[in-house]
Amino acid sequence: HTLKIGLIPADGIGHEVIPAARSAIEALGSDVPKLQFVDLLAGFELFARSGTALPEETVEALRECDCALFGAVSSPSRKVSGYSSPIVALRKKLDLYANIRPVLAVAPTPEERPSVDLVVVRENTECLYVKEETIIPTENGREARAIRLITERASRRIGKMAFEIALQRPRKQVTIIHKANVLSVTDGLFRESVRSVPRLAEDGRYDSVKVEEQIVDSAVYRLFREPQIYDVMVAPNLYGDILSDAAAALVGSLGLVPSINAGDSFVMGEPVHGSAPDIAGKGIANPLAAIRSAALMLKYLGYTTGASRIDKAVDEVIRDGRVLTPDLGGKSKTQEVTEEVLKRI
Ligand code: NAI
Ligand code: MG
Repeated sequence: HTLKIGLIPADGIGHEVIPAARSAIEALGSDVPKLQFVDLLAGFELFARSGTALPEETVEALRECDCALFGAVSSPSRKVSGYSSPIVALRKKLDLYANIRPVLAVAPTPEERPSVDLVVVRENTECLYVKEETIIPTENGREARAIRLITERASRRIGKMAFEIALQRPRKQVTIIHKANVLSVTDGLFRESVRSVPRLAEDGRYDSVKVEEQIVDSAVYRLFREPQIYDVMVAPNLYGDILSDAAAALVGSLGLVPSINAGDSFVMGEPVHGSAPDIAGKGIANPLAAIRSAALMLKYLGYTTGASRIDKAVDEVIRDGRVLTPDLGGKSKTQEVTEEVLKRI
């Protein structure tokens, strides 16, 4: 069996960190099957050159892969005619309905428990991100509206994903994030659907999981004051997006936080950071988030030994503190940090 991995660096520092992630997987030797990497195109730079941000060949090639690694895309904040974000499109086309983001502080010693150790599980396909926006002129100026879609099916399946992840963790706790006190219909359905997951599991599979809930605004407040109260947080798309970036701030740098986009038959690793145009091309991007995303992807596929070897190596490099990129106060280059990780793998 060959493990076929699609590589989509896309834009900016994606070109610098995805090769690092690839080399970490290659360093695993016999802990992974024979590897085949497939280089694929997407991104805003590609759009600027060719008029398409996500070529159909890329999507087709991905369907032949077992998994993929995505770098980052430089999506502009203004509307650009003909452009829409390839990462958002990929999540839809490959039905990667869960965005899973573990946020873990590295403890001072391997024995000590980290102060922040949580996972944000974000619904990845609906909510306001269905992008059904309209704008109309009125007597008092323009009026813009957006559809916020919440379905029972998508809420249940993201709920199930959250419960499955909780089962694998020592604390086994799921916190449902919502604003059902104000949005009682949409967020009410989300909350109720997630709550129905343990009830509907016929074999009592989730009986050991503790279920809590928290209104989104107070969840952010408590996240900053007492992050240790959280284990698995499950949220609709927009709240999950914001919450997971906020959680990332708890561990120092965006350059450390990995994620996967997961569905029932495909998984795509993706560092949480963007294309970082301010440092792109300088060789100083932190490769650790991308490397950890590779580990997370392998873990999801069941290659747990390989995944832990990568994670352990990354933890050691951070704890050691001598070879780090400038975002973590160091002086080293992407290449040097990558080599340090490879040495320890
Ligand atoms: P960003 O994450 O690219 O950068 C924010 C800050 O963090 C910058 O100062 C950057 O230098 C730093 N940073 C990020 N990753 C780093 C790394 N690995 N090592 C060292 N420093 C790092 O977010 P920003 O600047 O808001 O967005 C830039 C572009 O990226 C935009 O076009 C945005 O649309 C896009 N973006 C794409 C994402 C994706 O592909 N999923 C996610 C977030 C932003
Ligand atoms: Mg985000």
